[in-house]
Amino acid sequence: MRRRLPLTIGVVASLALGAAIAVPQIASASSTLGQHAAARGKYFGSATDNPELTDAPYVSILSSEFNQITPGNTMKWQYTEPQQGQFSYGQADTVVSLARSNNQSVRGHTLVWHSQYPGWVDSVPANQLLGVMRNHVTNVAGHFQGQVIHWDVVNEAFEENGTRRQSVFQRNIGDSYIAEAFRAARAADPAAKLYYNDYNIEGLGAKSDAVYAMVQQFKAQGVPIDGVGMQAHLILGQVPSSIRQNIQRFADLGVDVAITELDIRMNLPRDATKDAQQANDYRTVVDACLAVTRCVGITVWDYTDKYSWIPSVFPGQGAALPYDENLNKKPAYTAIHDALAGTTTPPTTPTTTTPTSGPGGCTATYQIVSQWTGGFQANVTVRNTGTSAMNAWAVRWSFGAGQTVTNLWNGVVSSSGANVTVRNATYNGTIPANGTTSFGFLGSWTGSNPAPTGLTCGST
Ligand code: XIL
Repeated sequence: MRRRLPLTIGVVASLALGAAIAVPQIASASSTLGQHAAARGKYFGSATDNPELTDAPYVSILSSEFNQITPGNTMKWQYTEPQQGQFSYGQADTVVSLARSNNQSVRGHTLVWHSQYPGWVDSVPANQLLGVMRNHVTNVAGHFQGQVIHWDVVNEAFEENGTRRQSVFQRNIGDSYIAEAFRAARAADPAAKLYYNDYNIEGLGAKSDAVYAMVQQFKAQGVPIDGVGMQAHLILGQVPSSIRQNIQRFADLGVDVAITELDIRMNLPRDATKDAQQANDYRTVVDACLAVTRCVGITVWDYTDKYSWIPSVFPGQGAALPYDENLNKKPAYTAIHDALAGTTTPPTTPTTTTPTSGPGGCTATYQIVSQWTGGFQANVTVRNTGTSAMNAWAVRWSFGAGQTVTNLWNGVVSSSGANVTVRNATYNGTIPANGTTSFGFLGSWTGSNPAPTGLTCGST
């Protein structure tokens, strides 16, 4: 059953993959995500799955927009060793050769995981499972030797509280199974970078602390680990604020970091406000990776809502990817593109600060928190500069370039043409002397987004 590609093909493939990763390319405004990422020394990739490969318009974008591919399913144990000792690589080979024909690198996903393995593994006597696991790793990593840049050697081995997940491997082999899997993978494919991959480790917390401790220990003990994969199955508006700091601390341990399965899900249906928030969230993740040299690339968990896994697993949620179900680009695409391109128009984090006093003894400070093509998020701080508490406030300004407020929180907005008035919400009208409160909003713009004029704050 086991097939090996002729050595020459493997060598040509690894040269092509090396070139796609290492050589910075000149990118222009119209360049693809992959080209922009390459110009920054990184990749931007997509997962895909075999059934989708009959969809020609889908394959066309998959083949041109990205410079890295991850098989979403068909390298998993269930597909590659469905019966003990019988290896089956046809579907994964199809994905790998498509990627190779497009000069895209491939991440191998995944060798040892508590899910999507065949039932026979549960019946292996406990004292034989280590040998069975090594055999699986040796065969699969051996088959794809020279053809994958990374392996997710072990996937999702920790619980949320940082303890080990009680998988069949943990129960029957014990803590050492992870290190053993890495050693077997290194022996089978010495050139592939070996990753530990998990979800909910994008920010600081008990689970990422546990992975951090493991990587630290592996480094001290000489266990061959090269990288940490942060899956990043994220929720709209909830990108962990510590993501950049967390990527950096892993990098500082001497391992690479990859964002391996990025999607940002929302409660359905989509609307313009959610799309704008999602664009902002994608930008935050891309900027975090760009900020850390050892963050080597980002993979979205497929690129279109047409083939996202989210709706089937999180009922009522979806629209998590940068292309919609009709393969049209969403605001998230533009945000990713502009972040990778390092676009300065619009500026990445424009800030305007215009404190003004109004009749009621308060000031308003208007600040753009982030901005992307067509949208922005702003925060306004209201300060009571009087000597006694105020019970109500109103902030007014005028937009000079046709900007509009699309969604506002912690206040009540009314607009008339270019003029915007925001009054307090029921719960934040009272501000003590010299105290502050704030509200925020998502806005849209075209052409330019200059600071508002006539910014005032008053008690009515
Ligand atoms: C998902 C696939 O996208 C689905 O098609 C499949 O039914 C289940 O697995 N974490 C992982 C991925 O590491 O392998 C999972 O992929 C998503 C969660």
